[in-house]
Amino acid sequence: MKNLNPLQPIGIFDSGIGGLTVVKEIIHSLPNESIIYFGDTARVPYGTKSDSTIKEYSIQNTKFLRKHNVKLIVVACNTASSVALNEITLHANVPVIGVIKPGAEAAVKNTFNNRIAIIGTNATVSSKAYDREISKLNPKIEVRGKACPLFVPIVEEGWMNHEIGLLAAKEYLNVLQRFAYDTLVLGCTHYPLLKHTIQNVVGDKVKLIDSGIETAKQVKSILAEINLLNNSKEKPNRKYFVSDLPHRFKEIGEMFLGQKIKSIAKIDL
Ligand code: DGL
Repeated sequence: MKNLNPLQPIGIFDSGIGGLTVVKEIIHSLPNESIIYFGDTARVPYGTKSDSTIKEYSIQNTKFLRKHNVKLIVVACNTASSVALNEITLHANVPVIGVIKPGAEAAVKNTFNNRIAIIGTNATVSSKAYDREISKLNPKIEVRGKACPLFVPIVEEGWMNHEIGLLAAKEYLNVLQRFAYDTLVLGCTHYPLLKHTIQNVVGDKVKLIDSGIETAKQVKSILAEINLLNNSKEKPNRKYFVSDLPHRFKEIGEMFLGQKIKSIAKIDL
């Protein structure tokens, strides 16, 4: 690993827009940090693709962020974190943080009845990445996964609080009911936007774990540990890059981020 300094930006990538839910949490807990974000909007979704394709795309995204001289890479995409974290780490040459471990740790801390449910894309759920992390921490915990592929387009249509969102949530989550879990991991970038609908369906007794919030906490503690927190008073620089449709990214992205996106550019990988 080369010499890194606190003023370098944090690199974050996702398959598209969804990773902005993670960016939002990182900005909230680390307001001084500059950020380079890449959303692979030309090739989204990753959640329905094969492991080898997800790995190939993730390596390309990592190389793009490296060119921007980032000090740390956050893999905001649950699918890429589940399937390609080893390959990303091999190509990063800087520390890498995925969203699976922080989400799994928070879920293990929260559960009382040792039953955790995971929802995510097809690729995330079938990779069993969350199951493995949870079992490393406590092998007695039982885990069940359920892929909810329609949640991504529903959120991108803005139908979070619409009947369609509620119907899909009931359809997906009711099959998990008999498992009687007390903790549910929102294992996809888009699901925090459906939090209220999901909580309505699963009831108040189930704690929802937002991997983005947990990841932001881990980014902060790892940067502090390796003395790379940016404590300067200078205004941070936040730049967003996409592989297609920058206008759509800006429009929908501002809803995910909860603030204006000022600098956005389309690039070819
Ligand atoms: N960003 C992806 C994830 O968190 C969801 C969208 C996709 O399938 O690419 O898994």
